[in-house]
Amino acid sequence: MTRQIVSVVGGKDAAATDTYASVNPARTSEIVAQVGLADAGTFADACRTAKDAQREWAKVPAPVRGRVIASIGRLVEANAESLARLVTREIGKPYAEALGEVREIVDTCDFFLGEGRRLYGQTVPSEMPDKNLFTFRNPVGVAAVITAGNFPVAVPSWYLVPALLCGNAVVWKPAEYAAASAHALYRIFVAAGLPDGVLDLVFADGAQTFEGLERALTEGTVQKIGFTGSSAVGSKIGELAGRHLQSPCLELGGKNPMVIMPDAELDLAVEGALFSGFGTAGQRCTSLGTVIVHESVHQEFTERFTRAVQQAEIGDPEQDVLAGPLLDQKFADRYEEYLTWIEPHHQVVSGPVGRITADSPRRAFTGAGGLYYHPVVVDGVRPSDRLFLEETFGPIVGVTTFTSLDEAIELANLPGYGLSSSIYTTDPKHAFRFREGISAGMVSVNNSTSGAEAHLPFGGNGKSGNGSRQSGMWVLDQFTRWQSMNWDHSGRLQKAQMDVADITPDMGFRI
Ligand code: UN1
Repeated sequence: MTRQIVSVVGGKDAAATDTYASVNPARTSEIVAQVGLADAGTFADACRTAKDAQREWAKVPAPVRGRVIASIGRLVEANAESLARLVTREIGKPYAEALGEVREIVDTCDFFLGEGRRLYGQTVPSEMPDKNLFTFRNPVGVAAVITAGNFPVAVPSWYLVPALLCGNAVVWKPAEYAAASAHALYRIFVAAGLPDGVLDLVFADGAQTFEGLERALTEGTVQKIGFTGSSAVGSKIGELAGRHLQSPCLELGGKNPMVIMPDAELDLAVEGALFSGFGTAGQRCTSLGTVIVHESVHQEFTERFTRAVQQAEIGDPEQDVLAGPLLDQKFADRYEEYLTWIEPHHQVVSGPVGRITADSPRRAFTGAGGLYYHPVVVDGVRPSDRLFLEETFGPIVGVTTFTSLDEAIELANLPGYGLSSSIYTTDPKHAFRFREGISAGMVSVNNSTSGAEAHLPFGGNGKSGNGSRQSGMWVLDQFTRWQSMNWDHSGRLQKAQMDVADITPDMGFRI
């Protein structure tokens, strides 16, 4: 069954100027949705509509907005299996993982429904009598949220849920190749009772979105941009936002390192490397980039890791597999380019490289007709290699060695990203030294690089982001602005810093 979907602005279907076929990457002959793409004008219209709707939404008491978030969570739970099934069909994420992704939306709602009854401000003492000081969190206004399709519903919810809870309106531009999943999530949000225009959904390509965003910023209808995607596009968005004196929330790529100390439990490390390297076919922003393994355990680790990769189930994402296909043709093309970065000094220890076909088969492979690729482990990666320095979104993991922990930390930071990282060790001293030295926003000890929980700060440094954080209470600073208020009830003008009582100390006092 092919769905026909278009953008929704102010609760009404919006005109499309182009179409995009969102296909099932596990069976590329199957079209999941025909997506009507809108242009820059529609994007700018949506931001105007959102601006009007936001005024009324902000007047709804926060605890009542929290009830809407509670309803979204309950509706997501009630629709969990069909939403997960759609995610699996549209982007090829194994069903168990898709269910986990849907769970992450519920977790996010669970956290923020209570925030509706907090959104605390403060009462602060004044330096003068008969004067009171307060702080308030105000919504920013309209948030334009542009998301990737590797987490087509969970990661958007990290923006949408807190932004709406805080009294903002949102214009959401999801990835075209994940449009049907986005549309389904949008309908769930609306069913929870959001007034028309408070959440608007725009399907558009990158160029039209960028142009629409530029117009909206010029018109003053967007006050916050949230973007999840590549570092290259993130820096363009950051530049655009900067010209309009805005600081966006940027969640970008990663080259996430895993350090394996000589005292590590190797089997545990192998399990973690397998899941974070090849689960989701290596297409999380938190996926493992390079294993940095101590030279004394390098051979043993690499042998065990290679065996695990060779035995991993890859295939039909509706079955119980470690990984399904790549997300979309565009990602497959880009991944093939990363494979050309393998150089003569590298050793591919995992087996065949490239597309899984009849001529290049894989043991116990259960897929057919999809964008399936062999998982690749490349040993002998050097710090000057592209494979070491740049993100390679897809099922490829590099391996390199070190001799001291300081060297391992230096190698781990070298690519200049800073999203996630991991260390396997049984010595707490190593874990804490690593935490202190690593530039990543997320540090795992004896755990894989992926798998952030929905109530911890999530975000990166360096090429992985601009230091903004999503999730938990930390994201509130993205979607609210602090306002301070002072109220003088002394009945006279008391001047700050000047009319302040002075208590004179005896500075010559000595015991
Ligand atoms: C992403 O790939 O954009 O920590 C986010 C994880 C997931 C989120 C990944 N909970 O791997």
